[in-house]
Amino acid sequence: MHDPAVLRSIHRDRFHADPAIFVAPGRVNLIGEHTDYAEGFVMPAAINFATLAAISPRTDGKIVIYSENFSEEKTFDAAALPAKGDKHWSDYPIGVAVTLAGKGHKVPGFSMSLWGDVPLGSGLSSSAALEVVTALALLSLIGASYPGPVLARVCQRVENEFVGANCGIMDQFISVNGKENHALLLDCRDLSFKLAPIPDHVALVIANTMVKHSVAGGDYPTRRRESEAACAVIASHRPGVPFLRDATLEDLDKWGHEMAPKSLMRARHVISENLRTVAAAEALLKGNMAEVGRLMAEAHWSYSKDFEGSCVEADIMVELAQDLPGLIGARLTGGGFGGCTINLVEQKDAPAFARELGSRYAARTAIVPQIHVCHASGGAHRLD
Ligand code: GLA
Repeated sequence: MHDPAVLRSIHRDRFHADPAIFVAPGRVNLIGEHTDYAEGFVMPAAINFATLAAISPRTDGKIVIYSENFSEEKTFDAAALPAKGDKHWSDYPIGVAVTLAGKGHKVPGFSMSLWGDVPLGSGLSSSAALEVVTALALLSLIGASYPGPVLARVCQRVENEFVGANCGIMDQFISVNGKENHALLLDCRDLSFKLAPIPDHVALVIANTMVKHSVAGGDYPTRRRESEAACAVIASHRPGVPFLRDATLEDLDKWGHEMAPKSLMRARHVISENLRTVAAAEALLKGNMAEVGRLMAEAHWSYSKDFEGSCVEADIMVELAQDLPGLIGARLTGGGFGGCTINLVEQKDAPAFARELGSRYAARTAIVPQIHVCHASGGAHRLD
């Protein structure tokens, strides 16, 4: 249901008001994992799974947010917003209101209805889509707007400061700035980016292992700390290395022995992943899909072995894809420890690929996966 008419009628029935409607997509990352908070490179694409928000003003000073997915309504007082999240789905939309208030906006009372089809906890950035769609909707009600990169930063702050998840900028950035049929090579240092067309003959097949993933859980921040500890060792010798983005594999040869073994492994993944991501973008721009696929495979095993960010099921999903007709490249996408693999597949082979991968995975793991043939979509915008 990306048809705004359905959400409009849900909103009208509940709130008896005519809403404005906005949409923000989830994302899949083609390559560049755990590099964003190291000021490195990522190459995501927005996908045709999204969150929609309907918004209308209120006169009673209340903020009432209804989720169609959870069939639940939450009410807040616009004059007494909470300081921190509550580990509830409403943290994301109310966190946006709190963050905008913190930037000096006067947040009025409003009614909001939400609906989305980005699978939750699957590494496809349902939370970023929710933040971005709320920010667009609320800013439009307030009568303000921000350039795309600034809007992405505001939404990242919601996640970092209100929700308490220590994520980077990738998910929010691509949800705001995605472009139909393109991947986006983002330099997370200065937020400059290059668009790379995904050829017509290539499908994005997203395979959900059904193993839940969470950025707020323990593993993501642990990996981040371990890789940052490696960076601190390098910086003690070379002060010009504030982030792993600035480090080289030679630095690891020289000073790796001073690092905890796990830190060395995490850093080797991050440094080599930055090189692979830039190389993959160049290959994609040249239409060299074989090279993109080779780099994706290398990236997966670096993520799995050095970063230890995969899980048994995701490794199986990647292995099972290898000899299926049409595969260009497969790897685990997103924050890790579960979630989805991204498979670049020849369009003509995609339906059979999806069917066969699903049945092989179910036979091997006794888990029935969800497999979606997707395409790269545009970034967040107003719908009506
Ligand atoms: C999650 C985070 C991103 C990024 C990825 C890993 O999706 O939200 O900022 O760190 O994990 O690449």
